[in-house]
Amino acid sequence: MYNPTVMDHFENPRNVGEIPDADGIGEVGNLSCGDILKVYVKVVDGKLEDVKYQTFGCGAAVASGSMLTELAKGKTVEEAMKITNNDVAEALNGLPPQKRHCSNLAADALHKALEDWRSKQK
Ligand code: FES
Repeated sequence: MYNPTVMDHFENPRNVGEIPDADGIGEVGNLSCGDILKVYVKVVDGKLEDVKYQTFGCGAAVASGSMLTELAKGKTVEEAMKITNNDVAEALNGLPPQKRHCSNLAADALHKALEDWRSKQK
């Protein structure tokens, strides 16, 4: 059901775990499937020096979190804010239609983590 890129990120997920001293944390859940994805960011000089994630979700959520962290790492906060759900799905070479919501969790959680970081700057 999944293409080789998705399978690779599902079987060898990148950047899994927690950043204990994270500057921002974002958690998103999906009501229909009950899955949850959490993103941690470390921001240094306006750039995402580290991004990690944890998920209690399906294979597509695992792969989406993994791809998202790869897309976001090293980007500025502004650039990372522009990463869309579609970008994650496209970088994975597509997800089956019924699994599109899984990639939404990842980008949404990143945006929440960045908003969390922003709210702490004030
Ligand atoms: Fe819910 Fe994939 S089925 S995140």
